[in-house]
Amino acid sequence: MPESAPAKLNLFLQVTGRRPDGYHLLDSLVVFADIGDALDAAPAEALSLTLDGPEAGALAAEPDNLALRAARALADAADVAPQAALRLTKRLPVASGIGGGSADAAAALRVLARLWNLRLPADRMREIALSLGADVPVCLASVPHRMRGVGEVLSAAPALPAFGLVLANPRVALSTPSVFRALAGRYSGAAALPAGWDDAHAMAADLARLANDLEAPAIAICPAVAEVLAALRALPGALLARMSGSGATCFAIMPDAESAARAAASLPAAWWRWGGGLARPAPAPL
Ligand code: C5P
Repeated sequence: MPESAPAKLNLFLQVTGRRPDGYHLLDSLVVFADIGDALDAAPAEALSLTLDGPEAGALAAEPDNLALRAARALADAADVAPQAALRLTKRLPVASGIGGGSADAAAALRVLARLWNLRLPADRMREIALSLGADVPVCLASVPHRMRGVGEVLSAAPALPAFGLVLANPRVALSTPSVFRALAGRYSGAAALPAGWDDAHAMAADLARLANDLEAPAIAICPAVAEVLAALRALPGALLARMSGSGATCFAIMPDAESAARAAASLPAAWWRWGGGLARPAPAPL
């Protein structure tokens, strides 16, 4: 069974400060959509990666895919030989704020821990994940979390109601460091969240009082993000529209997965777009 690598969405993302090493401190609510990449691993003499899927083209030129780096990091940590044939089915646009590379790296850690029969403690797995990127620990869990620190401080998310999601990307790749640079030190406070929400309207109303602080800097670099947000806000039934991560993918919160799927089909065909619900119960915890 291939391991699923679901898209991560930041329902809000406030940047609360900066560490001396330049990494930013975040406060975010992260959920996972029912679309993602898929990663399969088969026994092999050496480490290799083949790519397929609609978004594979954008990755072909990359010399060192994050899934391969994850495989080497895990093999090093466990003191085993990095032997596996990986096949990555790429459905998420690259450099798009929904954690494609991070999700792939996390899926590689999960699938190879199984293939190599490793029993590393969960905190060691999270450390390896963090060494690969700030979003990789939350992607390793692939279930909703409140995410703080630079991405390594994970706690339980509020209880979430059922809701639908539309995702749209104008097909412009945004570089995360350049979006953080454009933020230029405009920081927010931490968020106050309830223990949970009974329905999508109440959740969207609370989220509307929070922000993705990277939205304005991303729009300054890529004005198409503002067009996507306007189109998502105009969808019938949309409860909230916001950018995810450092963009350029934006999402709308919809009353349910069915209306989200219908709404996504009405967006411009030149965009990458998807509609549905949250990822179904996640991979076995590590
Ligand atoms: O950790 P990751 O490789 O995903 O981060 C890419 C870049 O995004 C970092 O090099 C850094 O410039 C920026 N970043 C940040 N603060 C974070 C996460 C990422 O400044 N919490």
